[in-house]
Amino acid sequence: MNSLRERVTQIFEDTFREQPKFILRAPGRVNLLGEHVDYNDGFVLPVAIDRAVWIACSPASAPHSSLVAADLDERVSFSSATIPAKTDLEGKPLPHWAKYPVGCAWALNEAGHETPSINAVFTSDVPRGSGLSSSAAVEMGFISALQATAGFEADPMSRAKLGQRAENVYVGVNCGIMDQFASACGKRDHALFLDCRTLEWQAVPLPSDVAIVVADTAVPRSLSDSAYNERRSACEEGARLFGASSLRDVSVAEFQRNKQKLPPLVARRAQHVVEEIQRTEHAVFLLKQGNVKAFGRLMNECHESLRDLYEVSCRELDVMVNIARSFDGCYGARLTGAGFGGCTVNLVAQSEAEQFAKELASRYTEATNKIPSVYICRAEEGAGMV
Ligand code: GLA
Repeated sequence: MNSLRERVTQIFEDTFREQPKFILRAPGRVNLLGEHVDYNDGFVLPVAIDRAVWIACSPASAPHSSLVAADLDERVSFSSATIPAKTDLEGKPLPHWAKYPVGCAWALNEAGHETPSINAVFTSDVPRGSGLSSSAAVEMGFISALQATAGFEADPMSRAKLGQRAENVYVGVNCGIMDQFASACGKRDHALFLDCRTLEWQAVPLPSDVAIVVADTAVPRSLSDSAYNERRSACEEGARLFGASSLRDVSVAEFQRNKQKLPPLVARRAQHVVEEIQRTEHAVFLLKQGNVKAFGRLMNECHESLRDLYEVSCRELDVMVNIARSFDGCYGARLTGAGFGGCTVNLVAQSEAEQFAKELASRYTEATNKIPSVYICRAEEGAGMV
């Protein structure tokens, strides 16, 4: 049996003196391609991974909800009356971690769903602050938990949108839809190709002879919120200068013809976006053909673009990527997620993956004195009851 499942069940029983009615699991994600394009209506290609948030929960008999964050050993109680003020029952501001689950209740209420009070315990093995969407996993876990206890219908994409709304408005982080989408819609052994404009998506099988290896630089993502918002604004300005509603409507050719009209910084940001949208569309075509070598080359190009044009890399991410590329079995390596620290994603021949992970870690430590975590990931199912 899964140890996180056992852990939340045990803590739930110890805390609430009954068995949990529901157990839910919601995965983190790693993005293969399509970086910083979800908020430009572009294409993304994430994978839900085999690291997840686990929740044990039941409807509460009390008129308030109680949440236990097992990993922090903290507990918070709130009611429908305290949700809008972002406080607990005693009127104290919610701790940061609690804003994600409470924000999910808020988003459901705003959308017209009544949420019953619940007792819940959660734990997670998605590393926090590493760019693997630990927050989106919490959101998708709690939206699913609230859905299970309230018994209303909502498909995975609707859950993703509710989670994004909770994060944008209640938590106050201006993210796009990719992370919640991946956690909600994951499919075992598949990547997920999403058109962020229409929200149409398809699952694309991953070749069985490649492994997805995630390498955490052990550099926490610093200043990422403000830098992320700056990137978003530059993209909006770029679109405006092109007379487009988003950069999705600007082709690479049109960008090349008119780029001198943009301020240099806006031109660099916009170039990344228009090329990355094209790159991701092409990459899916290659993946469907099983052409992992060409796919990996596009991952490498993406890193260069994020480093030089979008300027969201850092020394350690570049070091990790450069070491990875020196191994024969590595098809492609790049930073993944928002950047400014966090993880790289590597596409590696399955037969080489163990050795690759070991040597990448030791050579990274030699170069930086930092101890990385390296995970060989499996693409997993999205959030839901187990
Ligand atoms: C963060 C955001 C996503 C996306 C990525 C960059 O993970 O939450 O919406 O914008 O950065 O691709």
